[in-house]
Amino acid sequence: MPPATPRHIAIIMDGNGRWAEARGLRRIRGHEAGAESVRAIAEECARLGVEQLTLYAFSEENWRRPRLETEFLMQLLKRFIAAERETLLRNQMRFSAIGRLDRLPSGVRKELQKTIRLTANNPKTNLCLALSYGGRAEIADAARRIAERVASGELKPEQVTEATVAAHLYQPEMPEPDLVIRTAGEMRLSNFLLWQVSYAEFYVTDTLWPDFRAEHLKAAIEDFGRRERRFGGLVTRPAVG
Ligand code: IPE
Ligand code: IPE
Ligand code: MG
Repeated sequence: MPPATPRHIAIIMDGNGRWAEARGLRRIRGHEAGAESVRAIAEECARLGVEQLTLYAFSEENWRRPRLETEFLMQLLKRFIAAERETLLRNQMRFSAIGRLDRLPSGVRKELQKTIRLTANNPKTNLCLALSYGGRAEIADAARRIAERVASGELKPEQVTEATVAAHLYQPEMPEPDLVIRTAGEMRLSNFLLWQVSYAEFYVTDTLWPDFRAEHLKAAIEDFGRRERRFGGLVTRPAVG
């Protein structure tokens, strides 16, 4: 792995609708085309030795979209997970999902569980899909579970630290994202991984998600390699003169 390769890349995959509209197609065609980018980027991350790739595929707020679109997205998701199991296994990748997964249709949950189980011991990139995911919901869910443990006497209030909160997130073992990429130009987080991105580097590109391929990912990683990460401290430089 080249020295500047991020351990964890998280992507807000945006612009499927605009990609389709620009071609006079229905929005759902953009989602189908976006699935091709998921495959390409996941394989590239495995090749580069990235430890985790988290993809924002469907937000809690996306349930507000017209029913036809959410139903299509759920069907596409189910088909995609079943079809890509083979790609994940071939590339020795792990698969996981975060979010309020109980809100997903049972057919989707079954495919998710099967893929998670079959890839559990794989050593390469963990492809994590954020589904029915909201950053605030994740923190609220963690707070509720901590409150339950305090109420049962298992934990004292003064024992609740940042580490306690982190340990109650959906996937506590995930390394924090080093690089967050957003496609399609919008400069916002849209409720993605609010707790985990506190010191992530951001990269926004105008490229729409269905057009995003390995070369775009490499450009983002190169840009990341030029960043100076200080984490609130100071970078010591050799004295001049
Ligand atoms: C991202 O593309 C996919 C999801 C949010 C599910 P959009 O559907 O948001 O595409 P735009 O932003 O309308 O172009
Ligand atoms: C963010 O995109 C969610 C996903 C990529 C799944 P949206 O298109 O939903 O975000 P907003 O509405 O532009 O903030
Ligand atoms: Mg969008």
